[in-house]
Amino acid sequence: MDRGPSTEDCGPNYCTMAEPIREILGLEILDMDIHGRGWAKYNGRTVLVENALPGEVVDVNVYRKDKGMLLARPTNFIKTSPERVEPTCKHFGVCGGCKWQNVEYTSQLQYKTAFVAKAFKQLEHLDLPTMRPIVPSDNLLHYRNKMDYGFTSRRWLTAAEMADGPVTEGLTGLGQHPSGAFDKILHLDECFLLEEPGNTLRLAVKQFADEQGITFHDHRARAGYLRQLILRNSSLGEWMIILMVGETDPTDAQKILDFIEANFPQAKSFFYVINDTLNDSIFGKELVHYKGQTYINEKLGEVMFRIGPLSFFQTNHAQAVKLYNVAAEMANLKPHETVYDLYTGTGSIALYIANQVKHVTGIELIPEAIADAWDNARRNNITNVHFIAADMKDVIKKDYFKNLPKPDLLITDPPRAGMHPKVVEALLEAEIPRIVYVSCNPVTQATDLLGLSKKYRITAIQPVDMFPQTYHVENVVALELI
Ligand SMILES: C[S@@+](CC[C@H](N)C(=O)[O-])C[C@H]1O[C@@H](n2cnc3c(N)ncnc32)[C@H](O)[C@@H]1O
Repeated sequence: MDRGPSTEDCGPNYCTMAEPIREILGLEILDMDIHGRGWAKYNGRTVLVENALPGEVVDVNVYRKDKGMLLARPTNFIKTSPERVEPTCKHFGVCGGCKWQNVEYTSQLQYKTAFVAKAFKQLEHLDLPTMRPIVPSDNLLHYRNKMDYGFTSRRWLTAAEMADGPVTEGLTGLGQHPSGAFDKILHLDECFLLEEPGNTLRLAVKQFADEQGITFHDHRARAGYLRQLILRNSSLGEWMIILMVGETDPTDAQKILDFIEANFPQAKSFFYVINDTLNDSIFGKELVHYKGQTYINEKLGEVMFRIGPLSFFQTNHAQAVKLYNVAAEMANLKPHETVYDLYTGTGSIALYIANQVKHVTGIELIPEAIADAWDNARRNNITNVHFIAADMKDVIKKDYFKNLPKPDLLITDPPRAGMHPKVVEALLEAEIPRIVYVSCNPVTQATDLLGLSKKYRITAIQPVDMFPQTYHVENVVALELI
């Protein structure tokens, strides 16, 4: 097995792993940590081992010390777990994605359930309901509808590639970060996260760019034209292509987008982004609509959505339907009720439930997402919704609901960081009868729930698996005002 990246060692044209800090033999894995790594103890210190499961005994190389803990990778398995399976992807163990492709799916679900239970430990003094069984994903591969792939002029080289000496050719790459190395790129020959033609398209773009002699980005030198290829698709078969480049001349970006248009009829929407900053985020950069639609069409339940390049949309479409049905069922929606949907994105939850309630207000930070939300409402003839583009803490604050019709229900779906403490404070003051809290991070969710528990009782807890092959878990919680 390839050991994957360690503390990096970069030559002039490539990056690979450095020599390990030390070796530990016969380490017994005792548990799983919240980032899905094997958890062990060695001479009183915590060792976190990638790709190792509870019950396994392994020899490891320590590659980094972090806050007193040792981060390690296995070099030899003395005892393996019955939960272990053969990963589908050849890049498993090096690539930073799909860290649990080696874990049998029912065990993945058990570990995710245990994560929620562990995160909710801080709530154990409350009278909690029994957690419902996790909702599994129907698709274990090809379930994502958005991927960001990075270009590099000096790709990550695996130990196997370096075995015969320095590699001097074929050093460009288009892929993902290797595990734990966020400024490096591992070229991917295959990736099982998007459905086809995601993989074929990515490989074709790389080959075309190589043939055309278009330069790939070097993060260290901060030079090179091609930076990122962002692919989005919908369950209706439409694809959006966003190409991020590091220089202002768009000629080569347009050449690549023309190439994609000519060869992939599924591609309906073409953008490029000029980004000469240090970070790869698309937000706050010059985003140019080059050709085709300015959106892709998606359908959730009976509602049609237009999704623009900056709009958040749930990345696992099939599971998003299940997630929203769980939220709607927990919300116990009634036709006369006034509802708020916090962190609404493109208004997806608001529009999904609008025909079951009197009125929904959605609030979201990204103005482009709110523009999409209004557009989506109009296209679906949904008139009982209102959308506000603002930072949540600037809207949901003291006395906000004082002169408004009091909501009967509030649905909140914040980003991983959870809700701002001021929002939690304002919700306590507002005393809305029911809250449904959807979260992609049970740890921050538990902290927010602890705050809300001053006035609310938790009545239901339901984990949903949106991201098979990873340790991530979504969790929905229903609350009632005491
Ligand atoms: C997990 S997504 C949920 C989106 C939506 N509910 C859905 O299901 O598609 C979180 C959303 O919160 C938005 N967001 C992040 N920080 C925010 C803030 N401070 N104020 C308002 N919205 C914010 C993000 O842009 C994103 O659309």
